[in-house]
Amino acid sequence: MFFLIALHVFALLSASQAQKSWFSFGDSYTQTGFNLTTGPLPSVGNPLGNPTYPGWTSSGGENWIDLTTTTYNTSLVFTYNLAYGGATIDANLVAPYTPSVLSLTDQVNDFLQSGGLIPSWSSNNTLFSFWIGINDLGNSYYLGGDRGVFSDTLLDAYFALIAKLVATGARNFLFINVPPTDRSPLMLGQSTDAQALLKSTIQGFNTKLAARAQALKANSSGVQTWVWDSNAFFTTILDHPTSYGFTNVTTYGDSPELFWINDLHPTRYAHKFFAQSIAQQLGGFI
Ligand SMILES: *[C@@H]1O[C@H](CO)[C@@H](O)[C@H](O)[C@H]1NC(C)=O
Ligand SMILES: *[C@@H]1O[C@H](CO)[C@@H](O)[C@H](O)[C@H]1NC(C)=O
Ligand SMILES: *[C@@H]1O[C@H](CO)[C@@H](O)[C@H](O)[C@H]1NC(C)=O
Ligand SMILES: *[C@@H]1O[C@H](CO)[C@@H](O)[C@H](O)[C@H]1NC(C)=O
Ligand SMILES: *[C@@H]1O[C@H](CO)[C@@H](O)[C@H](O)[C@H]1NC(C)=O
Repeated sequence: MFFLIALHVFALLSASQAQKSWFSFGDSYTQTGFNLTTGPLPSVGNPLGNPTYPGWTSSGGENWIDLTTTTYNTSLVFTYNLAYGGATIDANLVAPYTPSVLSLTDQVNDFLQSGGLIPSWSSNNTLFSFWIGINDLGNSYYLGGDRGVFSDTLLDAYFALIAKLVATGARNFLFINVPPTDRSPLMLGQSTDAQALLKSTIQGFNTKLAARAQALKANSSGVQTWVWDSNAFFTTILDHPTSYGFTNVTTYGDSPELFWINDLHPTRYAHKFFAQSIAQQLGGFI
């Protein structure tokens, strides 16, 4: 009897030590429609909580965070996905398409002010991820002026939020840069000048993001960072689509043969490759 109870306690303890937490922030590329206040929260058998898996995604089904949490994970991970479709970093810097959108600033503040809603987590086995910037650049690249200076303004706001998270104990950060939306069907319908301007604005932002991530790691003891280069990864697929099973990367639709499901979002078939690559880069952390 005692032996059985002891075994049971041991199983509970090892499960709680192995369980990891993931707080995720971003836009429609990441959104699953999770709501912290309505529940249910992530649990064994339902690691992303509400709504019913795979949630409300922009991919037509599972997206990268669904698949990294449930399929390419190397441990039990509870994912609190606060990403919100249409998000920009700060609505005062770049307005989202509609005022009700929760920006990255709103998402991080919701996390910081969540009170007792979020169960306790440990610095050493909790991941904080960010895929943001697509809407910031897409909604501002054409405004003229020095886009590099503006990217620094955006990144100042972004990394002020990161500093707040570090202050609460966050130590493990995954940053995902801005993919080549200059090659999205939306932009293929625009002039080549517009495509080139968006492309160079994205490249400038991504270079600065990589430097910020490196500085964060260098300056904060115990901080680990990963930067998943979505721009390079998308570019490889778009340049070699048949190697990934895609027949057409300029048109869109809900088909396993297509990279884009609509004029700005990749299909679930593309997200599967993103998830595999991201899990591989995290090297077993998740
Ligand atoms: C969560 O649900 C509540 C209640 O319906 C709503 O007020 C709130 O805006 C929702 N939050 C998000 C992030 O969707
Ligand atoms: C990956 O996550 C699923 C869903 O929570 C879980 O059932 C599975 O055990 C996890 N995989 C590993 C290797 O821990
Ligand atoms: C992580 O931290 C928790 C709480 O401090 C501790 O119990 C656990 O052993 C640590 N895990 C690792 C892998 O260091
Ligand atoms: C990190 O350190 C570098 C070099 O000392 C410094 O230039 C930079 O401002 C620091 N960045 C942050 C975010 O503290
Ligand atoms: C992709 O589809 C579009 C629309 O049907 C077509 O114009 C284009 O030629 C196709 N590209 C390839 C490589 O088949």
